[in-house]
Amino acid sequence: MLETASKEIDETRQGEAIERYSKGASSNGRKVYIESYGCQMNFSDSEIVASILEKEGYETTKLMQDADIVFVNTCSIREKAEQTVRKRLSSFHKVKEEKPGMIIGVLGCMAERMKSKLLDEEKLVDIVVGPDAYRDLPQLVNQVDGGRKAVNVILSKEETYGDISPVRLGGNGVTSFVSITRGCDNMCTFCVVPFTRGRERSRDPKTIVNEVRELSANGYKEVTLLGQNVDSYLWYGGGPKKEFEKLSEEEKAQSVNFAQLMEMVAQVDPNVRVRFSTSHPKDMTDDVLHVMAKYDNICNYIHLPFQSGNSRVLEMMNRGYSREWYLDRVNAIRRIIPDCAISADVIAGFCSETEEEHQDTLSLMEEVKYHFSYMFKYSERPNTLAQRKFEDDVPEEVKQRRLSEIIALQQEHSFEQLKKDIGKTYKVLVEGVSKKSDKELYGRNTHNSVVVFPRGNYKAGDYVDVKINDCTSATLLGEAVA
Ligand code: SAH
Ligand code: SF4
Ligand code: F3S
Repeated sequence: MLETASKEIDETRQGEAIERYSKGASSNGRKVYIESYGCQMNFSDSEIVASILEKEGYETTKLMQDADIVFVNTCSIREKAEQTVRKRLSSFHKVKEEKPGMIIGVLGCMAERMKSKLLDEEKLVDIVVGPDAYRDLPQLVNQVDGGRKAVNVILSKEETYGDISPVRLGGNGVTSFVSITRGCDNMCTFCVVPFTRGRERSRDPKTIVNEVRELSANGYKEVTLLGQNVDSYLWYGGGPKKEFEKLSEEEKAQSVNFAQLMEMVAQVDPNVRVRFSTSHPKDMTDDVLHVMAKYDNICNYIHLPFQSGNSRVLEMMNRGYSREWYLDRVNAIRRIIPDCAISADVIAGFCSETEEEHQDTLSLMEEVKYHFSYMFKYSERPNTLAQRKFEDDVPEEVKQRRLSEIIALQQEHSFEQLKKDIGKTYKVLVEGVSKKSDKELYGRNTHNSVVVFPRGNYKAGDYVDVKINDCTSATLLGEAVA
């Protein structure tokens, strides 16, 4: 999914804590600290959790030491992600030894995957709550107050939290995530998400548009529509995507698909830019691309994971497309939106991947020349189809070497793509002051590339025309033009 300035490969950003301190009017005197790991969905969910708890009088705090309740919103996507969480839980447990009343809860995908095993095996936590059970949190905290451990990992076919207005945690006040679907029905063989997030369902477009209106009224300038497979968005009145087929033709005609939703969102405010993530090659339609081309405020940027450049491996991954199909989608993007940046996710060393098949991944990268990629070594996850059916037989050092080759090639391509921008002028949405120098601001252009330029009198939330003078392999450098 989308990433910020860092060209580092994933796991590092998972440690970012999101925090906020709020003075709730009807405070119950208890403070909650939430730390989030994993994908943007999780960060977005933590904002829903904060909203549910604030309604009950809890305050959120950015200081763990001040908290009465500590929640860790967890990720299971790769083994390393879970190890990070385990380490964090142990360190919170040490704090708890000094502060016995403190409650520690595990939210999110690891909670769903491990369920009550987290209570039994780890003995580090008091509450375990899956991604569809956050409305139950106040009740679960009461249960722990009453001296019992609490678990709710029930997955729902309907829950989208559509009616909940998220509390924006630790953001920049300029860009925000808006979740549009939950769950995933795709069953890629390597992936835990269908098990941790349940069946795919879409959120009522009215609530999505309302949330975007509210963000616009509060000064936000960019929304990213979130889902595991946004192209699969389909609103027909609520409930699992799979039930759609049972509707009458008349009912089906009333539904809202992703292209239509995006158009509705783009029309809310021409000054609010629209992004989305993640697109799925098997479901991305030309309609979506035409809507992108039609609206200036929809960014020319698509995150289109390919996972592998070889059709046999893609088949084993159950991705639902071949190399040729993927490249056809890339051609459609190039045709309909000539100036569109594309980024990707890719996995090195999936079960039985040969050297030639790995070369196909590199050659696909050569054909597309991604602006950016998230690159991973295959990590076998318990109970996935791949774990049950295939052997994780590519040796660790081979996986590592293949990953390094992928990373090196991607770095070349990123640099090559950014160099093309030198001399051009881009409209940049300022997100804040550069980490390296307070005399500089940073923001993003339509391609989602980070642009750094001298501060002048500009501030976060401004759109500034910036002429690009130079670049590194990850960042564009420029100056504001009148
Ligand atoms: N729904 C998105 C992906 C969400 S997970 C999509 O289908 O594109 C984000 C990325 O993590 C995936 O695209 C994949 O590249 C990677 N990933 C998922 N499971 C993995 C595993 N078991 N080992 C290594 N990488 C994995
Ligand atoms: Fe996982 Fe595949 Fe669903 Fe993405 S589309 S979340 S990789 S199962
Ligand atoms: Fe991780 Fe769950 Fe997201 S497994 S990547 S937090 S959907």
